Amino acid sequence: MDFNTKALKDSFPALKKSLYFNTGSEGLFPRNTYKVLHRHLNRVFKYGGSHPDYFKFINLYNEKLKLIIEEMGVNYNDTIKVASISEGLNFSFNMFPFKKNDKILLLKNEFKTVVLAAICCVKKYECEIIWADSIEHAQKIITEQKIHAFAVSHVSYIDGKVNDIKGLYSLCKEKDVFFIVDGAQSIGNITWNLKSVVNCSDMYVWTTHKWFLSPRGLAFIIPSQNALQKCSPVCLNYFATKTFETPDNISFTGNISDMSNHANNFNGEIGFVQTYKFIKKKIGFDNALKQNNSNKEYFLKMAKENNIEIKNTDSFLLAFKSSKYTNEQIVDKFYRHGIIIRTIPNTEFVRVSIHIYINRSMINSFFKIWKKIHKIN
Ligand SMILES: Cc1ncc(COP(=O)(O)O)c(C=O)c1O
Repeated sequence: MDFNTKALKDSFPALKKSLYFNTGSEGLFPRNTYKVLHRHLNRVFKYGGSHPDYFKFINLYNEKLKLIIEEMGVNYNDTIKVASISEGLNFSFNMFPFKKNDKILLLKNEFKTVVLAAICCVKKYECEIIWADSIEHAQKIITEQKIHAFAVSHVSYIDGKVNDIKGLYSLCKEKDVFFIVDGAQSIGNITWNLKSVVNCSDMYVWTTHKWFLSPRGLAFIIPSQNALQKCSPVCLNYFATKTFETPDNISFTGNISDMSNHANNFNGEIGFVQTYKFIKKKIGFDNALKQNNSNKEYFLKMAKENNIEIKNTDSFLLAFKSSKYTNEQIVDKFYRHGIIIRTIPNTEFVRVSIHIYINRSMINSFFKIWKKIHKIN
């Protein structure tokens, strides 16, 4: 089964130029979003920003957004809207009333913005980070010592491994640990349904710009009742666009000030409404998952034929490496052939996302280029 790629290409101009194997931080810009933005701009020009109905024009999409969120399984009014995962994590950490010497537990290879948000709390409240080598190690630490907060990714950005957040939450509840989940790589990858992630953490942060084909600028936090009771209402006013200095002993590949450049909610909202409608009407959420499964199987088969070892296959995010080139070289070489993949920062791996805009002929092209780059006949 292959989708009508023409509809996808027509709706997402970026797909016309390149073969995308990436759910990185860019997101795609749907063609309809340009059109809607134009309409808005024309109105604003016509009436001026001081027109009393200006904000009604701007908020035109909120009703639709609300309906979508409720259709996905949660009450819109119970969610907190932010501009990105990084901002949501920052917000979640800052909601928690940490005290001096409190302990925050993180995995050593956690995504940098989770680490950054935790480090900000360390600086602000003089608490401490405890580093775990693995999930099993983290569970052991929670059982053996007093931990105040634990943050983890639902789906690992490195190898697509799916963590059992339900099990972890039940341990955290038992030990009174505030549990934050980074859902950046899970909604749209392992599920489209928000019901399945409710009651699995105190703060569940997810975004629309990765697996929902949306431009960046929109993310949500689903807080638990426990979180809402525990966190001071004053913290609700927190708006996480402040930039922080990098502590000396930590190096980040990106720019820390990126965190403040996410306040693009408007495009994000319009984009999400457009992409949700597109997937629902043109593809169907169940079909999308089926398509991804079949593409993943095909990708794995082709990888095996080409002697490439894939790291983990829990989800549609796959990681592997070349025995000949570094991950940066591989990304660069693919880019020269019009194929977009991404390195996994601070590792030797590249990642490939099996997304709904991928079909078998794209996968064939991918391996053809792989062979060419590696000079295999
Ligand atoms: C696991 C994980 N967390 C957080 C982020 C950052 O998301 P955002 O760009 O919405 O801040 C990413 C982006 O790649 C990610 O993969």
